[in-house]
Order: sequence, then structure tokens, then C-alpha cells
Amino acid sequence: MKVCRSEVELRQVLRDAGGPVGFVPTMGALHEGHLSLVRRAREEADLVVMSIFVNPLQFGVGEDLAAYPRDERRDLDLAETEKVDIVFMPSVEEMYPPGNEMRVRAGALGDILEGASRPGHFDGVATVVAKLFNVVDPDLAFFGQKDAQQVAVIRRLIEGLSFRTRLIVCPTVREPDGLALSSRNVYLSPEERTRALALWTSLQAAAEALRSGDDPTAAAAKGLDFLAAQEGVLPDYLEPVNPATFERPQAGEDTLFVVAAKVGTTRLIDNLLVQRPQQPESTEEI
Ligand code: PAF
Repeated sequence: MKVCRSEVELRQVLRDAGGPVGFVPTMGALHEGHLSLVRRAREEADLVVMSIFVNPLQFGVGEDLAAYPRDERRDLDLAETEKVDIVFMPSVEEMYPPGNEMRVRAGALGDILEGASRPGHFDGVATVVAKLFNVVDPDLAFFGQKDAQQVAVIRRLIEGLSFRTRLIVCPTVREPDGLALSSRNVYLSPEERTRALALWTSLQAAAEALRSGDDPTAAAAKGLDFLAAQEGVLPDYLEPVNPATFERPQAGEDTLFVVAAKVGTTRLIDNLLVQRPQQPESTEEI
């Protein structure tokens, strides 16, 4: 496995290596969710590139940039075990040359839900991913469904800035009890860890209400009521959205329930897709 710390070095290594490139961007603190992306990339590409970069642009004032879990040795060992070919680990100065303030704007999609609670977050994500795509120039890029709004932003980024990269969205990896894996789960005390499961339960309550005939808004309200009643959990939102546009789902469309809540001081997100019932095949005789 090769570790590159500068763009020039990475471009050189990629030029020498050749082959379809699968790219897994991360902020480190690797867990099974990241490793599932690497395994999928291994299946689909000849060369697997992972970036490890805690991107300051996507953290707001008062967020956990300084405290964000970092363990370079452990991350590199895991990447090596999973047969990542190249790890790109740039410094902040390498990614953002001092004095250069060129940025990508995620637009209206970046200003709602997560973006409303974390102003500028998706501009930061779009900027760093655009830079990484420019340097790595991947054929395929692998993102987790857990960050559903990020996935929608990246889809728009690829289309809007004409990247050739194909986006592959991989399923959320969960603990056996349903808690979505997240690098931020390490912040949870054992008691908070138990309480955090309420996000997943609230999504299931919303999905159940939708399947039982509630409209998406009423179904989401039921999930939110459940979440609000949990001790030590402070809900931010539980909303139904169209998974691609993040607008209100129209009748008969797939509904993605997205949730965010603070458990103690840790902000967690999760989501659950309810697919519209399949139309029965036409049996009309010709
Ligand atoms: O999902 C993440 O870990 C980050 O938002 C990403 C895509 C690596 C950009 O910093």
C-alpha cells in the first residue's frame, strides 16, 4: 500500500498505476461502514484509492473539528488489511493553499435539514469532494447511504460540474441492534449508546405509520413524537423527503425518512427508505 501526502505525488502514482479507479473518501476514524465501501470498491475497480482528510471546511463554529477522532496508525493498518492500494492523506495546507478561497456552493439543497442546522457544511463537503475528484479522477466513487443528504449533494456535484465519476451508494452498516455506524458513536457513553437507538426506532415508527396508510407528513410526526418522548434525546428533525431531490415526496413516490437528534452532546443522523408499493404487472390480454 502506498501513502501519498501531496497532490503531485498522488497524480504521479495514479498515472503509473493505471486501471479503473475506485475511490473511497473518508475523514478517517475508520469503522465497518467505511470498510464495507472499500470492499465494494475492491469488487468493482482495479485500483482502490482512499482519502483520509478531516476537512475543516465542513465543520461549523462550535462543532467538533478539534475533537474529531483521529488515529492515523490504526486507519492505515485497517486500510492495508482491506487491500487499499493508495491512501491519500494531505495536510490542510496541501488541500487549501493559504490565501486561496475558491469554494463550491452546494445551493438550496445544501441549505435545508442538515444544512439548516449546520450552515456551510455542504459547501465544505462539495468543495473537498470536488478537489478530491479532480486529483484522483476516479471512475467510481463509493459513498454510504447513512449520509443521505450528502449523497444527494454529491449527485448534484457530479452532474453540475460535469465530473465523469460514477457514484455508487452503499447500504448503511448497522450494529446488531440497528444503530447506524458512525465515527461519532465513540463519543457516546454506554447510557447514551442505548438511548441513541431511539433514532432508528423512530424511523421504523414513521415507516410503519406510512405503510399503515398515514400520509408522509403525519407518519413523520409520529416518529418525531416517539423521539421527543425519549429521555436524553433532543430531536432536530424527522422529515419525509424524496430521496433524490430532498423535496416533499409526492403521493405514490418513494419516501425517505431522515432524522437528526442530539444524544447528550453528540449529534447523530440516520434515515430509512420506504419504497412505493410496486404496481401489479398488467394482465390485460391483447
Ligand atoms: O462522509 C465523509 O466522511 C465526509 O463528508 C467526506 C465525504 C469524506 C468529505 O469530507
